[in-house]
Amino acid sequence: MSIDETLSSGTVLQSGTQVFTLEKILGRGGFGITYAATAQNGTRVAIKELFPEGLVQRLAGGRVIAHDRLEFERLLVRTQFEAETLQLLKHPSATKCYGWWKQNGTVYLAMELIKGDSLEKRLETGVKLREVEARAVLMACLGVLQELHGLGLLHRDIKPANIMLNPDRVELIDFGSAVKYKIGERIKRERLLTPMYAPLEQFGEEVQLTPATDFYALGKTLYHALTQTVPPSALERAAGATMRPIRDLEPSLSLSLAEVIDACLAMKLEERPQSAFQILQELQHGKNYNLPLPDQPRRPQIDIVMETLREFFKKPHNVIGVSFWLVIVIGILVSYFPTLMFIVAILGLFLMWFMSQSS
Ligand SMILES: Nc1ncnc2c1ncn2[C@@H]1O[C@H](COP(=O)(O)OP(=O)(O)O)[C@@H](O)[C@H]1O
Ligand SMILES: [Mg+2]
Repeated sequence: MSIDETLSSGTVLQSGTQVFTLEKILGRGGFGITYAATAQNGTRVAIKELFPEGLVQRLAGGRVIAHDRLEFERLLVRTQFEAETLQLLKHPSATKCYGWWKQNGTVYLAMELIKGDSLEKRLETGVKLREVEARAVLMACLGVLQELHGLGLLHRDIKPANIMLNPDRVELIDFGSAVKYKIGERIKRERLLTPMYAPLEQFGEEVQLTPATDFYALGKTLYHALTQTVPPSALERAAGATMRPIRDLEPSLSLSLAEVIDACLAMKLEERPQSAFQILQELQHGKNYNLPLPDQPRRPQIDIVMETLREFFKKPHNVIGVSFWLVIVIGILVSYFPTLMFIVAILGLFLMWFMSQSS
């Protein structure tokens, strides 16, 4: 992308009554350019512009024209879906999206401006992530994924470039590949994937994906970050390349974290952890931890009382004990209310007999 294809600093964008003045470029990928900008109330934001490389061209004045109108229309819808997905997420580690609008023939997303660099930039310095930092990345991503997967969506592009290391928290960004999934349904591949981090199933044209698809990419990202080694891609592994367990490279790593990363990197989808909750449990209790069974359906209180009584009266010595005290009490009461107590005594004995019979 040549430099004059980007919008210059000072360019004004408008969404309804909101006016944003662009500053510098924060980053660009194959599908867009992200700028820092200031809203008219002084709030600094990030604005992502859909600008798919090779597919569009910028005219003087900023307008974008597409060479392949149909494909561009599809990407416009995709970018709106990206904004809507971000707006559904409430987790503090998911980028906040203020809204989207169409302008210049393309679409823009206004998001919270994240301070700090991406994990990719950090890894380019050659320094490995410490375990405590890797755990912070893992916990932040798991938190967002738990919410995202719960909404029936997958991220599909977890990698160091899409994880921001804000000084106070880690944030997962770039939901441009997010997709709805349903267990048992196939999903068409629509966007370029990142071969170094993607699991094998993502290379297929129309495949079943599950939350475990995101966990592979997350495991690969952490493996890279903790070892400064990029292990073979899933395609290379499928062709015979081996990947060493992470503790072979980083023996000081805690067993629970190493086991989680190695488990996420299983080639077969079904051999990986199946939910963010499962990973959180395994981090806390170790790999062989059995997930608690779902709660038993609650029984009505009256059933529990009846069963306790039945158990009690099944034992002959309890029947004798209760009968003894009943006879004494009834004897005393009979002397005061003879007729009424006679009826009560008969009823009581009948009830005890009934309880001891039914089970
Ligand atoms: N909200 C944000 N705040 C700060 N920088 C951001 C933000 N969103 C994106 N970036 C920067 O822009 C880059 C590209 O953004 P991303 O959403 O990943 O788009 P793409 O789909 O082009 O990969 C990121 O790697 C990051 O450096
Ligand atoms: Mg990205």
